[in-house]
Amino acid sequence: MDLWQPLAIADRTLRNRIVFPPVVTNLAGGKGEVTEELIAHYSRIAAGGAGLVIVEATYIHPAGRAFPFGLGADESGKLPGLRRLAAAIKKEGALAGIQLFHPGARANPNLTGVLGLGPSSITLMPKLPSRALTKDEIQDLTNTFGNAVGLAVQAGFDLICLHMAHGFLLSEFLSPLANRRRDEYGGSTSNRLRFPLAVLKEARRRAPNALVSCRISAHEGEGGIIPTEAARIASSLASHAHIIDVSAGWPGAAIASVPPAAFPPGCYLTYARIVKEAVSIPVIGVGRITDHLLAQQALSKGQADLIALARALLCDPDLPNKVREGRPYEECQSCSGCHRLLNRGGKVRCVRTKAPGSP
Ligand SMILES: Cc1cc2nc3c(=O)[nH]c(=O)nc-3n(C[C@H](O)[C@H](O)[C@H](O)COP(=O)(O)O)c2cc1C
Repeated sequence: MDLWQPLAIADRTLRNRIVFPPVVTNLAGGKGEVTEELIAHYSRIAAGGAGLVIVEATYIHPAGRAFPFGLGADESGKLPGLRRLAAAIKKEGALAGIQLFHPGARANPNLTGVLGLGPSSITLMPKLPSRALTKDEIQDLTNTFGNAVGLAVQAGFDLICLHMAHGFLLSEFLSPLANRRRDEYGGSTSNRLRFPLAVLKEARRRAPNALVSCRISAHEGEGGIIPTEAARIASSLASHAHIIDVSAGWPGAAIASVPPAAFPPGCYLTYARIVKEAVSIPVIGVGRITDHLLAQQALSKGQADLIALARALLCDPDLPNKVREGRPYEECQSCSGCHRLLNRGGKVRCVRTKAPGSP
């Protein structure tokens, strides 16, 4: 499989195998609205040649805010801005995706004014208490996810990515690290899947003509999901989704969702491979892939069907076009300066190259 080979899924076609995965930028407005800066950022990434650009974790409800300038898809007033955002990405020849999420126990009460929510009363980073959802609230949130999906589809996004990774709400339900429920939403793998699966089915119902992907953490470290369980989870999700996006990590665990430079290049591709063996839909691999040769190798070895480059495209959005034209590109050093900016509430960009188009 070649990096430049287009991929057709349902009635959409990615022009190549390179994906810009969701990366929170803090470039939205204070009320979660689309800004010119946000549009310029995503348009610039798309212009660099990636096949699919997935807009950052976007909140579905005002009580689900985690970042001071995070993007929202929580009300119809945001539709015109979201429309412009999707159109700007598509104008550059990439498919436009958007990740929808609820941060669960990781919501920021300073922004929301209420406690975070989870499967159980748990404390995760940012180390604040949360409360367990009732069954009625689980049903309400399924509908709220559906409303956000409806909005994203109306805005013209080609793909909806459901965030089921990194210790946010849906992953809290999936993970034994957070889910201590004794009802039908906790315990066995299939019970822990019940809420995420309901959201996925609702997403498909509300987005019959768009692609739907699920981003999971295939390894969470001690006591959490491990790749063999992730493969079972992915196999259930794959009956309803178009793509499985195989990330890793849990807040505070040794397995970091943003792998540091000390981790080997392509560190999470082996998990993608394990998941890929369990499903028959395309799989995205991610994790410290900073160089196009490694990306190509992962495809050739059958570890993944699509390759996500997060920090590498922040560092040099033109990487895809430059590789294609045989030109040199700036290689990401995985210093995670971009991530530190996010953790401080700042605007995200590559601290080394301050890549054009970045603020
Ligand atoms: C600043 C920053 C923000 C991120 N925001 C998100 C996000 O909104 N949703 C998500 O699923 N992952 C997020 N991630 C994780 C990336 O999508 C990606 O999985 C991770 O950085 C590993 O890929 P890389 O080694 O190519 O950077 C973020 C990473 C960084 C560095």
